Amino acid sequence: MNDQERLRAIWDRSVEKLKEVVREFDITEDELHIAGAYFNRLGQSGMCPSLIDVALAMTSIDAKRQRSHGGTRANLTGPYHAQHPVKADGNLCDTPPAPDAPRLEMSGVVTDVATGQPIAGAEVDFWHADHNGIYDRQGNHLRGIVPTDEQGRYRINTLLPNDYSEHDFDPLGELFRAMGRTNTRAAHVHVKVCVNGVDLLTTQLFMSTSNMLKDDYVEGAVTDDLIVALQKREENGVTIYSGQFDIAVAPETSAATAS
Ligand code: DHB
Ligand code: FE
Repeated sequence: MNDQERLRAIWDRSVEKLKEVVREFDITEDELHIAGAYFNRLGQSGMCPSLIDVALAMTSIDAKRQRSHGGTRANLTGPYHAQHPVKADGNLCDTPPAPDAPRLEMSGVVTDVATGQPIAGAEVDFWHADHNGIYDRQGNHLRGIVPTDEQGRYRINTLLPNDYSEHDFDPLGELFRAMGRTNTRAAHVHVKVCVNGVDLLTTQLFMSTSNMLKDDYVEGAVTDDLIVALQKREENGVTIYSGQFDIAVAPETSAATAS
């Protein structure tokens, strides 16, 4: 199937499925026009990618995983990835943390899933929201690439991310409110692992401190194997959470399926 045929087939099948929905729920022409106006507003708010992510991206990721050779479960890239600087010491904070902001110390080993051997020099790319659930969209605060050491180990020092809910005042939040659903993501740290210039894994690690682990608005995103069990301690009046998460990737497989 060429690109044009594939696009045509996807369009035909999608419209066919939506026609079933129109019949099943007796959706009126007026209601369809309301939907059209809604999509205009959604587009103006820049939230179309988020709607697609929330509704469909996990399905695509899980289907791809069925064809792969295991390792750490993949997860959404989400809307906020960027090119990040290398932060070799693992400190992701570009501005000094507020004293009352809880810190996160996370470490682990990156291994080859086939051999179990650690991978030295893997580039582990992190990005996450702050203690108020806000991403830095201009700069590189709470973002950075951390190379693994000779033992395949990474270590980051950063802020503990909070649950993320930036949709309270946009059309995406409006839709979820109208359905009686939350619009909140469980606190997470995004991770991308790149070895020898090849992206092998994109995933998200969920913080055991989150209250939204059962209610993440991206259905199917949170699974037990991606939850980092955090320990809490106090040091000089600062709250520090620490946890360990090993990451297994499949260098050959991913390179072979990338094309
Ligand atoms: C959305 C936000 C995220 O941080 C993410 O990882 C995935 C989706 C969103 O706004 O929909
Ligand atoms: Fe995110």
